[in-house]
Amino acid sequence: MQSEMLQLRRRGLTIGFVPTMGALHAGHLRLLAHARRQNDRVILSIFVNPTQFNQRQDFTRYPRPFARDARLARKASADYLFAPTAREMYPPGHQTTVEAPALARRWEGAYRPGHFRGVATVVTKLLALVQPTILYVGEKDAQQARLIEQLVEDLHPATRVIVVPTVREPDGLAMSSRNTRLSPTERRDALVVFEALQAAGRLIKSGECRRGVVLRRMRTVVARAPSARLEYAAVVDPRTLEPVTVARGQVRLLIAAWIGRTRLIDTLRVRCQRPVRCQG
Ligand code: PAJ
Repeated sequence: MQSEMLQLRRRGLTIGFVPTMGALHAGHLRLLAHARRQNDRVILSIFVNPTQFNQRQDFTRYPRPFARDARLARKASADYLFAPTAREMYPPGHQTTVEAPALARRWEGAYRPGHFRGVATVVTKLLALVQPTILYVGEKDAQQARLIEQLVEDLHPATRVIVVPTVREPDGLAMSSRNTRLSPTERRDALVVFEALQAAGRLIKSGECRRGVVLRRMRTVVARAPSARLEYAAVVDPRTLEPVTVARGQVRLLIAAWIGRTRLIDTLRVRCQRPVRCQG
């Protein structure tokens, strides 16, 4: 992979890179479309990274429709599909890991211990292998996107990061490889995740940003669905991901909820018309 990429760079070609864990959907394909438009060559990686799964079962249950993915990659005009094995990425004797930055401590970091160390490590390794001109990541995984931006800022790979807005189903559910695990009833219930964000967004836009009130609204919306259980909901600064005390300009809403045995996350950026106090 490295020598292939080196040859491209020697020819002066730009390289767009979309790292994924496969089970491709329209969200992944949107990242590929951006990469296709902006680069001479497009690389898609598929690697279900064992080190970022904090539950063994989540890892083994993760969908792996490889033949279908390869077809979709070709259709999306990816030039390379890089699908290393776990043994190639982590050969026996592998020792070095990348510690996740402070912004990874809360939210996903708190509920999925070790997850972001796994993400930071695998992304660093993939960047070293591909050395892309531009790396494409999705806004849906907002904390991961911020972590990757921070990692690139801190470790100086010669790469630019572009964050692509969330792609949704027509009813609003954020596309996710995990959606395929939802039963038809759960699929209906899953809608409350985005509806909770929208309800909170409307509240904030109307000038209400007290944490208690906003979180209660999100909880109420999630509680409408029998199979849903809220894990966390938050109003945060888009850069630091710390809870905001006064919302000025942009804030980001974060949510994680279980729908049956499937854990979903989503996020929404909200622009406040005027400064609003968010404490209390
Ligand atoms: P995966 O969940 O396969 O997602 C790959 C990329 O697609 C991520 O950047 C993710 O944010 C983006 N993505 C997923 N759903 C999206 C949607 N609905 N709209 C827009 N973009 C979406 O995230 C990972 O894999 C892994 O953690 C990885 C970064 C590959 C490291 O292993």
